Amino acid sequence: MDINQISELFAQAIGAKNVITGERLALRGTGYCAASYDGDVLLTPCSAQEVSEVCRLAAEHGLAIVPHGGLTGLVQGTATAPGQVALSLEKMNRILDLDPVQGVVTAEAGVTLQQVIDAAEPHGFAPGVDLPSRGSCTLGGLASTNAGGIQAIRYGMARDNILGLEAVLADGTILDLNNTLLKNNAGYDLKQLFIGSEGTLGVITKITLRLHSRPSSVQTALIGCAGTEDLFQVLASTRKAFGASLLSFEAMWPEFFTQIATHLGNRLVSPDCGIYGVIETGQWGEPGQDDALTVFLAQCFEDGLLQDGTVAQSETQRRTIWQLREDADVIESLSGPCLSYDVGLRLNDIPGYVEQLQERIARDCPGVGCYVFGHMGDGNLHIMAGPAPDPISHAAIDGAVYGVLQQFAGTTVSAEHGIGLEKRAHLPLSRPDAAIAAMKQLKAALDPKCMLNPGKIFAC
Ligand code: LAC
Ligand code: ZN
Repeated sequence: MDINQISELFAQAIGAKNVITGERLALRGTGYCAASYDGDVLLTPCSAQEVSEVCRLAAEHGLAIVPHGGLTGLVQGTATAPGQVALSLEKMNRILDLDPVQGVVTAEAGVTLQQVIDAAEPHGFAPGVDLPSRGSCTLGGLASTNAGGIQAIRYGMARDNILGLEAVLADGTILDLNNTLLKNNAGYDLKQLFIGSEGTLGVITKITLRLHSRPSSVQTALIGCAGTEDLFQVLASTRKAFGASLLSFEAMWPEFFTQIATHLGNRLVSPDCGIYGVIETGQWGEPGQDDALTVFLAQCFEDGLLQDGTVAQSETQRRTIWQLREDADVIESLSGPCLSYDVGLRLNDIPGYVEQLQERIARDCPGVGCYVFGHMGDGNLHIMAGPAPDPISHAAIDGAVYGVLQQFAGTTVSAEHGIGLEKRAHLPLSRPDAAIAAMKQLKAALDPKCMLNPGKIFAC
């Protein structure tokens, strides 16, 4: 079918204005995936019923569907090849219900995380998942990639915060897995199949999240240590001192921190530290111990664990600290396009991994910068490396990142971003053959003709 025929087919089901092609499509940003619109058609259905109709028609005419959320993914999970049809949930952007007694919110899949944060705040709640792309990432994307983010150390990943959902299967069946109960063991918990499966098993159309009591105040610190060992000791003491009040524990290696701090003109801490951390703790109830983090860090300083540190004295300072950690796009604006990695390791292996990786990149990839940061408390490192202008340099950097990773046990090639197309070749490093075979069996059971996000995670 040509583009006109495809447009005509879907226009009958969801209206011509919800079939976007040509110039209207060209004007759109592709997010972090340049190939998001290579199929030249984007559908924007307005209800689960319309998504169902789209899936039914697509299956009938052999057109594969690629679900799109906020396009903030980093693994080419929204790449839409010619002949495939992109399907955005952006018109399904209503918060349907927020129950302040039970602490749950139900929303359509196109709702952004920021919308949920804003809706929950007046009720004294916050979602348990938070991440730098909160302004554009959608709940559908959050669920389908099982997003992690900056508070996973406290509240877990998306999966730990999703109580129920609705998904449309490849044949158009609307699967109502809505649930608002914290406890529900009635048979298989099918929603888990759709969480983290990157749109390959169904299109998520609705989500119910559990909410958490929003702290009445937070304390946020930027610290510098001589090295990773000291930062680990601070992490261990922070856990002991703050328990469940510890919301985030992030790390930045000097190459990453210095680039961003210099760019932002930020002089909050010394630029000569061996490694940097961001710690955020919360407080609930009446104000009382607002300086607990300051007192704690003063002790760490006395114990010789800190080289430098500062605790935000205002919301503006807090935002400045988080900007240093979250504004990774600055690295690309200064160094050019980078490859993005998302590995997970046992904490004890992190210092050795980073040291060997830096040596390997210096040896095998001359001229390539390597910027490491991430969710230290979760053992989740992000590595940005570049430039990689051609497939040969891409392969050399992959070889360094994953080659060194293989030296360690119990690792993952994707701690939170997923596999998409980008890491498909490396999936076997993290999952045994039998597990990948079982994944393929599930795919074949739910989507036998491979109509939903084909080729993502593994070939089918
Ligand atoms: C972050 C994204 C890259 O943590 O996962 O900034
Ligand atoms: Zn992250």
